[in-house]
Amino acid sequence: MCGIIGYTGHREATALLLDGLRRLEYRGYDSAGVAVLTAGSPARVVRCEGKLGRLRDVLEREPLRGHCGIGHTRWATHGRPSEANAHPHRQGKVSIIHNGIIENHVELRAELVAAGCTFSSETDSEIFAHMIDRDLARDGTDFRAAVARALGRVRGTWAICVIHDDHPGEIVAGRHNAPLLIGLGTATDGAHAENFVASDVAAILEHTRRVVDLDDGDVAWVTPDRVALFDVQGKPVTRAERHVDWSTVAAEKEGFKHFMLKEIHEQPRVISDALAGRMSYEQADVSLGVDLAVGNIKRIVLLACGTSYHAALCGKTMIERLARIPVDVDLASEFRYREPIVEPGTLAVAISQSGETADTMAALREAKRLGAQTLAICNVVGSSIARSADQVIYTHAGPEISVASTKAFTSQLTVFVLLALHLGKRTGKLSDEVIRERMTQIAAVPEAMAHLLGQMPAVRTIARRYMHARDFLYLGRGLGYPVALEGALKLKEISYVHAEGYASGEMKHGPIALVDENLPVVVMALRGPGYEKVLSNLSEVRARGGKIIALATMGDRDIADQADDVVLVPDVDEMLQPLLATVPLQLLAYHIADLRGTDVDQPRNLAKSVTVE
Ligand code: G6P
Repeated sequence: MCGIIGYTGHREATALLLDGLRRLEYRGYDSAGVAVLTAGSPARVVRCEGKLGRLRDVLEREPLRGHCGIGHTRWATHGRPSEANAHPHRQGKVSIIHNGIIENHVELRAELVAAGCTFSSETDSEIFAHMIDRDLARDGTDFRAAVARALGRVRGTWAICVIHDDHPGEIVAGRHNAPLLIGLGTATDGAHAENFVASDVAAILEHTRRVVDLDDGDVAWVTPDRVALFDVQGKPVTRAERHVDWSTVAAEKEGFKHFMLKEIHEQPRVISDALAGRMSYEQADVSLGVDLAVGNIKRIVLLACGTSYHAALCGKTMIERLARIPVDVDLASEFRYREPIVEPGTLAVAISQSGETADTMAALREAKRLGAQTLAICNVVGSSIARSADQVIYTHAGPEISVASTKAFTSQLTVFVLLALHLGKRTGKLSDEVIRERMTQIAAVPEAMAHLLGQMPAVRTIARRYMHARDFLYLGRGLGYPVALEGALKLKEISYVHAEGYASGEMKHGPIALVDENLPVVVMALRGPGYEKVLSNLSEVRARGGKIIALATMGDRDIADQADDVVLVPDVDEMLQPLLATVPLQLLAYHIADLRGTDVDQPRNLAKSVTVE
């Protein structure tokens, strides 16, 4: 949730921290703050409630000078958004920033208060500042050991960075169930040495591609020219360095008004990237870089949250139809608590854009504990979920900055089609001829999508017509149902308009009571097995005065009589329809939000990566 950055090196830290926080702001934007340290004087802390722009304004008026510092952008968990609850928290000579939740903070806080500590915030995080300060006051100068001792006493989740006035140039960082990595500086001479700490590689991409991911329980001691890693007992550990390929340009808006709009338009390329190098026509096979022992798989369980859950719902149909393996889909937040049955032969698949969603991580761990073979479908390379699963398939969508997920969703759908073909080949349910035909069909999707995006100014006109509606209903059947859920979720997330996604066939069991002339109903009316039935649903809505926005197949001439507005989508195989049908729904939500003037990329109360349960 919260974004974290730390810098130690030859450059002025403040500008660097602010730039990193700008790239992390999608992780949380309830408050932001920095602490910067110069040798010989105490660290100075500046914090502001609200978005990063306010902090930037204050720092422009009162610049902080120094070559070592930490910065934080907050998504509130314990304690409301306010300046007092903003990070960094400072006690004595210690300044800390933290992402996560400390489960035993109440008892630790009580203990510290009883020992005479005075707290200045309502956060759970502040206990770290007090614990480390007291420890150092008592036990001398081993800064790193004091941080490790504090980490040894807490339960919960943390990514933490600490600086100390008497240790200029040093950052001590640690992680447990929250993302944190070290960015290694690229200088070849001591005078230009520098290193970084960040919760997300996007924060430091401009400065380095050399990254070391911390593991749970790691403590890092970082100076401009050294990085040493330990466990909380102080035993040295080593972690491999990796090279990050993502381009910095990918993390900029490139002339689009919002990241969301840019990311919607990136989708044709993203799908090509997800397909690249994975399909062999000669062998009529899909290679995903995994060995799933398909012969032993009796059942697949898909685990995910939010948009990734909707992709999983599509994935179920794709895998069941093409590979004939039974698939269950679970909301990751529910899975662990319902005493799931995981029999031998279960493959559990965690789907997550960020690879850091706490509920998905917990569900994956539970499935593993119960004996399942595990697979992750993730976008962020080296993320916690990707590293925890036995095997991983990356979606290659590039950095997704907008909080509302778009290109990650279509890249997940692409991977599901590939996975279904991969499995279908191995279960013997698909002939080589069918596999080749399906590969040809999906290879044509990027071009069809680019064509579709070219038609999309029409969606803004539709958005203008319905932008004042208070509620929307989204209906779909078969694969159109998860698409309806996703369309409704997009609208809720960014425009704050109530929207419900429903299976078309269920409309008569409840939602039909809502239909009147004020209710726009968005209907997936693409050609396919359920088409006739969808037309009946349209008539039922019209008979009650509801306004219909239909997504129909190009060439469908009948639909215009049945709907108030029609968006035509290129004709593709039914299995691939979600990939295309999602695009106008993303744009409808985008334009309604933009016309209503909401903060499209950073909608209120939401966070891109939810690292708390
Ligand atoms: C948050 C985001 C959603 C996302 C969900 C799951 O709620 O705002 O856009 O779909 O988390 O995230 P994941 O990274 O696991 O796919």
